[in-house]
Amino acid sequence: MRAIVMHEVGGPEALVLEEIPVPTAGPGEVVVRTEAIGTHFADTEVRAGKYLPARPESLPAGVGFEAVGVVTETGAGVDPALLGRRRAVVLLAGAGTYAEYVAAPAAAALPVPDGVGSVDAVAVGLQAAVALGVLRAARLDGSESILIEAAAGAVGGYLLQLAREHGVGRIVATAGTPEKREHARRLGADVVIDHGVPDWPARVPEALDGGELDVVFESIGGATAGQLLGAMTPASGRIVFYGMLAAKPPEIAPTDLLARGLSLIGFGGRAGTELERIRSLHAEVLDRVAAGRLRPLVDSVMPLAEAEAAHRRLEERRGIGKIVLTP
Ligand SMILES: NC(=O)c1ccc[n+]([C@@H]2O[C@H](COP(=O)([O-])OP(=O)(O)OC[C@H]3O[C@@H](n4cnc5c(N)ncnc54)[C@H](OP(=O)(O)O)[C@@H]3O)[C@@H](O)[C@H]2O)c1
Repeated sequence: MRAIVMHEVGGPEALVLEEIPVPTAGPGEVVVRTEAIGTHFADTEVRAGKYLPARPESLPAGVGFEAVGVVTETGAGVDPALLGRRRAVVLLAGAGTYAEYVAAPAAAALPVPDGVGSVDAVAVGLQAAVALGVLRAARLDGSESILIEAAAGAVGGYLLQLAREHGVGRIVATAGTPEKREHARRLGADVVIDHGVPDWPARVPEALDGGELDVVFESIGGATAGQLLGAMTPASGRIVFYGMLAAKPPEIAPTDLLARGLSLIGFGGRAGTELERIRSLHAEVLDRVAAGRLRPLVDSVMPLAEAEAAHRRLEERRGIGKIVLTP
């Protein structure tokens, strides 16, 4: 089969298309013939050797956390009725979905509703499940003002839609280009700020029209999160931290949190028992797609052979929504 293999960590050129044997299903596993493969910003971090939870333990290694396709083999202890069924493979440990076939634990092969196509299902996938988890972690009361950073990214775009559906007060979002800011407005943001301007947090009070910020969804990291604290509601303001697009943790001093009575909440999709949680969040977001309540955000569909170009698009921040590969 054709698969993307990394022989060394490095730039996008480290992704090499090769012929390798089709995997077989071990005990408790299924093999899925992929129809659509999801890309993640985190894939670029894995490829560059910068993503700690999924740094390749040995090389050569596969790349990719998720794909949707049809079950072609079931291992010992797995219900053979799964053969021929469409499943979304979501790997929280390890990687390797950039391939024509993927072996995965049966528990990591999640149902896909009939009415949802494979490209849409994988575009929603893990990022929308994470967005729903992140939203729930904030425990919003239905009228609070929120700020969503990097709102034209995949997680950001699903967070915007899910927050609107949940019910919130004002939504302030950030994005780096006029096209992305328009996209964020269409998905439900009231005001969209250019986060390419270094002192953009100074524009937040004006965007709130005199109000305060109850929740910040923090995915960029670095200095800006600390600069938002002054605009947050004292005693109840929360920062939900779930990503580090700038490759730096948010610079937030515990003493600043204490002084204003703010909380910092972490959301990580890969901690020990997360598969159960991600599985039920994944089912919920796909049900929303099937019911027309959540719009899949497909930036582009590219052949597997162009994985290198897909990673360049991710790293150059050109995507709006999710880049999908097809085998
Ligand atoms: N905690 C979890 O379980 C979990 C799971 C999945 C993803 N995540 C995290 O969620 C974040 C978003 O992931 P995603 O897959 O939605 O990403 P994505 O679709 O690639 O979108 C990322 C967007 O963020 C913006 N951005 C802002 N600052 C950036 C920077 N310094 N470097 C690169 N991009 C920057 C860019 O748009 P502009 O042009 O608007 O700047 C970029 O297009 C990542 O940090 C990822 O690691 C966390």
